Amino acid sequence: MKKLGRNDACWCGSGKKYKHCHEMIDERLAAESDRGHIVPTRDLLKTPEQIAGIKESCAINIAVLDYVAEHIREGVTTEEIDKWVYDETTKRGGIPAPLGYEGFPKSVCTSINEQVCHGIPSEDIVLKDGDIINVDVSTIYKGYFSDSSRMFCIGNVSEDRRKLVNVVKECVELGLEEVKPWGFLGDMAEAVNEHAVKNGYTVVREIGGHGVGIEFHEEPWVGYIGKRGTDMMLVPGMIFTIEPMVNMGTSDIYVDDSDNWSVYTADGEPSAQWEIMVLVTEDGHEVLAY
Ligand code: MF3
Ligand code: CO
Repeated sequence: MKKLGRNDACWCGSGKKYKHCHEMIDERLAAESDRGHIVPTRDLLKTPEQIAGIKESCAINIAVLDYVAEHIREGVTTEEIDKWVYDETTKRGGIPAPLGYEGFPKSVCTSINEQVCHGIPSEDIVLKDGDIINVDVSTIYKGYFSDSSRMFCIGNVSEDRRKLVNVVKECVELGLEEVKPWGFLGDMAEAVNEHAVKNGYTVVREIGGHGVGIEFHEEPWVGYIGKRGTDMMLVPGMIFTIEPMVNMGTSDIYVDDSDNWSVYTADGEPSAQWEIMVLVTEDGHEVLAY
């Protein structure tokens, strides 16, 4: 890489001089790396132009989930949810990112009760009173990716399932509070894990969040088992998801070998997940999609 002069235009495309833009961040990254910390590569720091595009994608993702929230109820099939997501995404000029992703056959993941994630919509799956369901929506718009998911309680949901759904949302919020520049991914992970365990739950270890924006799944991998002060440092311009899967019983899971996608809890107990997309800013964070 050609060494940038301090008066050259910054590599990020802001139009500002390097010395007034990323020079300090680059110096700090080099120093933290020398200290033995894991730091993001430059391509993980989104430019202002990329952030603007990613936000447009997020606006569609949020609108699609809002549509689902307004229409989901007992008696609806997950196939119908898939059609809503396809129609609401494409009418806004977006493409559902799951459709055809590594062979995934549908536009959205719908995971009910003991399904942990990656449930495949089907006309045979009818939402019934007492179900809890995660609807995981991801959008491509002008080449930019967004990804977020919400839980929905169908009808009269038992107290223990409702609590699981609420506690996982709290886990995400507590993790989010830890997201600030020059903190660590492990700060977020430990906050999520602590709250889940305090409530008697377990956190899925094998599946996590991810960087997102230019690709569907980018570095870093975002787990919820790590310890404070460890894992990758958080740097302004990074965008990633916080999406813990929390189980009422054992953390053990398996993939259904009939479809090679749907993930279930090993003990058949319920699981819940919320997913947000967060940008690390100069003074903290900004939630981009929820
Ligand atoms: N939306 C999921 C995530 O959070 C990814 C699903 S991949 C798919 O990472 F193909 F199943 F859609
Ligand atoms: Co995700």
